[in-house]
Amino acid sequence: MNTGNEHIKIEKKKEVGIIMLNRPSALNVLEIKTLQELGSSLTELEKDEQIRAIIITGGKNFCAGANIKIMKEINLKEAEAFSRLGHGVYNQMETMRKPVIAAVAGYALGGGCELALACDIRIAGESAKLGQPEVNLGLIPGFGGTQRLSKLVGVGKAKEMIFTGEIIDAKEAESIGLVNRVEKDEELMAKAEEMAMTIAQKAPVAVKMAKKLINENQEMEERLNKEITLFAQCFTTQDRVEGINAFLEKRKPKFKGT
Ligand code: CAA
Repeated sequence: MNTGNEHIKIEKKKEVGIIMLNRPSALNVLEIKTLQELGSSLTELEKDEQIRAIIITGGKNFCAGANIKIMKEINLKEAEAFSRLGHGVYNQMETMRKPVIAAVAGYALGGGCELALACDIRIAGESAKLGQPEVNLGLIPGFGGTQRLSKLVGVGKAKEMIFTGEIIDAKEAESIGLVNRVEKDEELMAKAEEMAMTIAQKAPVAVKMAKKLINENQEMEERLNKEITLFAQCFTTQDRVEGINAFLEKRKPKFKGT
């Protein structure tokens, strides 16, 4: 069965639900509508008793992050609401009882990398390029990256990635624990489905309990909330204006710290 909407497509294969970011020509950039559709897709798959594991993928490119063209226009309040929406959907993934696997090929940047981070398991294709390049735009990660990246790869490596905005390849991502394993691009979905099917055969209540215990962290919840506030504050700076203009004008930004 296939159900779908505009930005997201859902496919159901036996016990596995596949969520496909479905705007490849736009590098699957995230907008309000994308996040809303992602949230309702997760709700649908969580409710469907036949589904026991979920895969999120983007095809050739996983996701290049939030839509920078839209972020050029928004103010502090709108930035806060956008960040809160993203946090809500990513938290939903983390707290739902069914495990979620990210199958990542091509770019997974900014909010796209954070989407993979909010999944339970990440499998990369050889073409995967992951990073948190928000600093180039005068921003910080706004969908949980400051916390989830640090938790996954350690504080030192997370700071290096977030402060430099460096984009790393699949092999390096595997070596630092950012992805669980690397597969050939053409085998990525088959491998992800294989893992999802393996999990789907296990006891659902046990899997749910294990996920809950591994993920539950009250201190992290507080820090995730703080990230929303600080992400929005970046929208009051001149550096954000300069960073986003520079990206759109395809030039290097000149940051002044204001
Ligand atoms: N938002 C909007 N448009 C984007 C985009 C994004 N995140 N990423 C790429 N594009 C657009 C480019 O503007 C360009 O559009 P035009 O053809 O109209 O000029 C097109 O996609 C192709 O991009 P490039 O010409 O730059 O192609 P490239 O192959 O040289 O580079 C790329 C590809 C590495 C993905 C590069 O485009 C890039 O660095 N994109 C920005 C990635 C980024 O910074 N993501 C974080 C966004 S902020 C965020 O996500 C905040 C958060 O935490 C929630």
